[in-house]
Amino acid sequence: MEQKKTQRNAIDLPGLLVIFGGTGDLTNRKLIPAIYNLIRDGLLPEHFKVLAVGRKEKTTQEYLIGIKESIMKYSRNEIKEEIWNKIQSIVSYYKMDFTNLTQYETLLSHVEKLEQKSKTKRNRIFYLAVAPEYFETIIQGLQESRLTDRSSDYNRVVIEKPFGKDLSTARSLNQKIVHAFEEKNIYRIDHYLGKEMIQNILVLRFCNFIFESIWNNKYIDNIQITLSETLGVESRGAYYEKSGAMRDMVQNHILQILSLIAMEPPVNLKMDSIRNEKQKVLEAMEEISDEFLEKNVVFGQYGKGMINGESVAGYQQEKNVDPESQTETFVALKMHINNFRWSGTPFYIRTGKRLQKSCGEIVIQFKSMPEILYYNNTFEQTPNLLVIKFQPGVGVKFCFNTKDFQVHNGIMTSQMDTSAVTTEQGNTPEAYERLLYDIIRGDGTLFSRWDEVEAAWNVADRLIQYREQKKSPFPNYEAGSMGPVRADILLKEDGRKWWDFSGGLK
Ligand code: BG6
Repeated sequence: MEQKKTQRNAIDLPGLLVIFGGTGDLTNRKLIPAIYNLIRDGLLPEHFKVLAVGRKEKTTQEYLIGIKESIMKYSRNEIKEEIWNKIQSIVSYYKMDFTNLTQYETLLSHVEKLEQKSKTKRNRIFYLAVAPEYFETIIQGLQESRLTDRSSDYNRVVIEKPFGKDLSTARSLNQKIVHAFEEKNIYRIDHYLGKEMIQNILVLRFCNFIFESIWNNKYIDNIQITLSETLGVESRGAYYEKSGAMRDMVQNHILQILSLIAMEPPVNLKMDSIRNEKQKVLEAMEEISDEFLEKNVVFGQYGKGMINGESVAGYQQEKNVDPESQTETFVALKMHINNFRWSGTPFYIRTGKRLQKSCGEIVIQFKSMPEILYYNNTFEQTPNLLVIKFQPGVGVKFCFNTKDFQVHNGIMTSQMDTSAVTTEQGNTPEAYERLLYDIIRGDGTLFSRWDEVEAAWNVADRLIQYREQKKSPFPNYEAGSMGPVRADILLKEDGRKWWDFSGGLK
């Protein structure tokens, strides 16, 4: 245990983290609790300040009262007096309208004063925790006011997703950012990459001879990635109307997971070596033809229904949503990666809101044995399955067949399950803790490089255009179900089914 804990060390580079969107949802739910836990674990630099920038009128004192509540509500660790005192000494609030370019000069002088007082040198991290439509304005404001001018050690920018709303807007945003920051200082965030279990994909694959030697189309029948949520769009109707499940989950989280599952071993664990291999997977994605779109894609939108015994509204009745909205809240997809390793092995993905259960898992289904021995009407062999589960709970399961001692000649499926190990390890660090820690120490491995984002948009754009051109019979699934029936048919037509481990093996 001790060994694991000592692997991350405090960073000695001082710095100032400027959060645009300081009073927003992301800051309250994720960033502030992450900062609290980084302090608790002794991982922040000695000289480190946080400047929360927001449009609301408040004093630092009032701001601190608000974030204390957020820490109590969202942090994985209880609030302790000594750590709270430290937070109070490093966090301050600054009111400005970040859409008004004339206000950045004043921000610059405020930042400079703060830096002089706090020995953070001129190392700056600008975190854009705001709605995507503000990204370009903020970058422009930072550049024109010279807040981005060369600092002593670093000057970084962190961009939340979605990075653009299609390939062309992503390109234009990128051009503006690279004008102001060097590529190595641009952190395009995908919080899924900060999840320990997602990082575990590489360890499972490249530290286990038994898995990597059969990790290809000769032994793997198909791969399934499921990210399902019981939550609806909550208060984010306005954002979600412009995004939909494709931009919200597929273009980023799902394609990133898929790249890690499918990539070739990198030559080393350096940032660019891993990113190069991920990028090649997206380039090898099968061509998205009209036939592909007709056969392999299912879009859905939830109607009213029941979640955990409570009735919930349909998407079109949610706040800030068009009552005739054609936005998809569900996507299921079958796709191939046309390279030597994966040709012929389908990847099935599905993601959606207001589904029956919240679940994040990857299932690797190995090929079945020939139906010669142990096959008749009574016995059914389950194929070997490797399940990487990342929420709720984390763990890896391996399913294989053994003799059922209760039945003459019977077979049963047994599971080797490592999920219990995670309770010994305690709570896995929240993704944002890991990502903030990496941003401060300057490690971009868990962030997307521009060419990866571009390749992901190439795939997503075609699918989004297809959905936008066609009027769909939405809503087409009940809240509380597992999505449109067509998503099950997608696999049934191939003689397969979705595996579901949220309640054990079924
Ligand atoms: C975000 C999406 O990126 O990921 C949300 O914008 C979604 O719509 C969330 O709910 C899911 O993240 P997690 O970590 O809770 O699975």
